[in-house]
Amino acid sequence: SSNGSGEKERTLGIIKPDGLSGNYTDRIRKVILESGFHINKEMIIQLDEVNAADFYAEHSSKSFFTSLIKYMTSGPVLVMILEKEDAVAHWRHLIGPTDAGKAKITHPQSIRAMCGVDLEKNCVHGSDSHQSAQREIAFFFKETPPDEAVRKHDEL
Ligand code: TYD
Ligand code: MG
Repeated sequence: SSNGSGEKERTLGIIKPDGLSGNYTDRIRKVILESGFHINKEMIIQLDEVNAADFYAEHSSKSFFTSLIKYMTSGPVLVMILEKEDAVAHWRHLIGPTDAGKAKITHPQSIRAMCGVDLEKNCVHGSDSHQSAQREIAFFFKETPPDEAVRKHDEL
């Protein structure tokens, strides 16, 4: 794996609004499971402008940012923790290039070629590094400890 330990790695996958509304979920899930990933957790969530902008903060100064946020908030998304050895690199390989229009030509077997449209509407997300994966998984799935545990910790 990319962390060198031979242990399973986790990455974040998202089926974006058009992927979900276009009923690609079952086909994408089939590719995920046939590729040896375990779906550790998943949930459907409607992003608002604030959390979509927070998720894509690294792109906040880009010309496409406003349009990207509009797209990502246009309907519910399916967020998944995907687990296997070398999950980050393997999932990026499976989804294919960012530009789904180009992917249809250069990577016709990729998920973005299957369900994406163009450079913006590319139907799926994948974390770009082990560190990004940890941040993005925590962004959606981090559980806040119960008050009691927080209080006890503060008393130590
Ligand atoms: P980026 O992180 O570069 O791509 P990836 O999703 O492959 O990691 O960009 C984030 C998203 O922003 C991308 O999935 C689609 C959108 N985007 C545009 O709309 N226009 C662009 O020119 C780029 C580079 C990305
Ligand atoms: Mg990216």
